[in-house]
Amino acid sequence: MKTVRTIAELRQQIADWRAAGQSVALVPTMGALHAGHIALVGAALALADRAVVSIFVNPTQFAPNEDLARYPRDEAGDVAKLAGAGAHLVWAPTVSEMYPEGFATRIVVEGAALPLEGAFRPHHFGGVATVVCKLLSAVTPDLALFGEKDFQQLAVIRQMVRDLALPVTIRGIATVREDDGLALSSRNAYLSADERYIAPMLYKVISEVARGRDPAEASEALLAAGFTKVDYVEVRDAETLVPFVRGSGRPGRVLAAVWLGKTRLIDNVATG
Ligand code: PAF
Repeated sequence: MKTVRTIAELRQQIADWRAAGQSVALVPTMGALHAGHIALVGAALALADRAVVSIFVNPTQFAPNEDLARYPRDEAGDVAKLAGAGAHLVWAPTVSEMYPEGFATRIVVEGAALPLEGAFRPHHFGGVATVVCKLLSAVTPDLALFGEKDFQQLAVIRQMVRDLALPVTIRGIATVREDDGLALSSRNAYLSADERYIAPMLYKVISEVARGRDPAEASEALLAAGFTKVDYVEVRDAETLVPFVRGSGRPGRVLAAVWLGKTRLIDNVATG
């Protein structure tokens, strides 16, 4: 498994695979890899001949007050995990490779990007869409895989790919959870022992909302359990993310974002 830094090296490798008639899957990541990412690589290997994993902590999706500087980074550890998982290529570009001097383009996303995370982090999905578009344009994969853990991100990427007719298939892969239900996330590393003890309540409570519990009451239960703040617990249409209408026959999704001390956790589950 090779690690390349530049788009030129990446494209050379992809061209060699294409010349051999091989299909390519991309798993975009920001590193600090855990079993959830490795599940994405496993799915990529099952669906394509070659699996490329990008590792890039994208500055444009963090607001100035967010955790860019302290976002966990461990490239050597990540590369070892990816080699063990059977990935074929790691693409770990520098910030100047992705955003060279004079870079002045940003994708504006609306629709599924506006509510929930979009209301609390208005800069976020524009940065995600811009970097994902560039990752897709550099790799030109047949398919790209994203975790359902970031469910709204997945909806926004599907919307962008559809709207811009990007020639790639997007696959969402089920969230990987700890035994106690906590969704795996690179940000779990920030949790203190006490916070880690409380954290699995999030999954328990949103699962109750999926079975019909009132979201406002669920928010109160989360605060009573020790969460510092609840940004939202909402039931939304699973594709458009407009408010869910029970009995509409449409798929629904419960989405939540909460704070435990200085750590913000998000999670989601399908409605029953
Ligand atoms: O989900 C992530 O890790 C990031 O948002 C992504 C999709 C790699 C874009 O930076």
